[in-house]
Amino acid sequence: MYNRLIQTLADGEFHSGQSLGDLLGVSRTAVWKHLRKLESYGLVLESVKGLGYRIPGGLELLDPDAINSAVDAAVKSKLKRLELLPEIDSTNSYIAALGDQAHGVVCVAERQTGGRGRRGKTWVSPYGKNIYMSLGWSFEGGAAALEGLSLAVGIAVRRALNADQAVKLKWPNDILFDNRKLAGILLEMTGDPSGVCHLVIGIGVNVGMIGESQPAIDQPWADAKEVCPYSRNEIVARTLSHTLPILEDFSRGGFAQYLDEWHRHDACMGKPVTLITPALSVEGIAVGVAANGAIRIDSGGVVKEYSGGEISLRLSK
Ligand code: BTN
Repeated sequence: MYNRLIQTLADGEFHSGQSLGDLLGVSRTAVWKHLRKLESYGLVLESVKGLGYRIPGGLELLDPDAINSAVDAAVKSKLKRLELLPEIDSTNSYIAALGDQAHGVVCVAERQTGGRGRRGKTWVSPYGKNIYMSLGWSFEGGAAALEGLSLAVGIAVRRALNADQAVKLKWPNDILFDNRKLAGILLEMTGDPSGVCHLVIGIGVNVGMIGESQPAIDQPWADAKEVCPYSRNEIVARTLSHTLPILEDFSRGGFAQYLDEWHRHDACMGKPVTLITPALSVEGIAVGVAANGAIRIDSGGVVKEYSGGEISLRLSK
């Protein structure tokens, strides 16, 4: 029901309550109730007396054919399948639940009801906006061999957005434009930490939020429309096309092969930062990352390396 309603309104044109009711086989009052529900999903609806309802600007819904036809052919042959869901709690949880069957499965959703960010944060995931995607990938060689992988995925996302110099990487895996967050990456692992690891690579990219009522995001955000001309479907396809080769190369050469590229786009290089761990807070100058992906901070002339999922890094004002 909701899918048909959204697909109809996605054209951005006005549709009367009566015509929507006829389409769905329900009363105008029922249509109105469904529309209120859609608004609670984060969709912006306009209603004008005599004209009906519309989604201003329309929506580019995710389309498996559009994604599949835009994915690099060599990459497509390595994917098991692409699953497109109207709604899920979290695409990461969906892929994680597939366990050892997740390798090569991609899940993309229109909306997440329990989208997750790093350090237990919520990832705001309104319907039809942005990209919420996760990919399952299994690696041999244990968890230690995966150090730095989330940074390498950041490089893939940056390349996918065909970004110019203004798009930066912030340790460990934020993609920033103009110091505002454009995309984030959440890697989660199951399996044997000393053997085959099943990795869930979750990627969220902000797309199409400009001009919308501002979602409740607790940090300044940027939109892919500010940095590249690609549609949502194209960004999904390009992200896959750039991520898979990096996963394969990473298995062979680790993060060290991306060190130069990372440093060229490092948002914090040479800048004063504060690093916060659950146990301590460190002030210093960011001096890049190590070959294992750890952040390097110079505090009073002594450079130390830090890594771990609970660490956050802030540019000092
Ligand atoms: C962060 O910057 O804190 C990481 C954000 C990761 C968000 C993505 S959206 C798709 C996938 N599913 C989730 O629940 N989270 C990741």
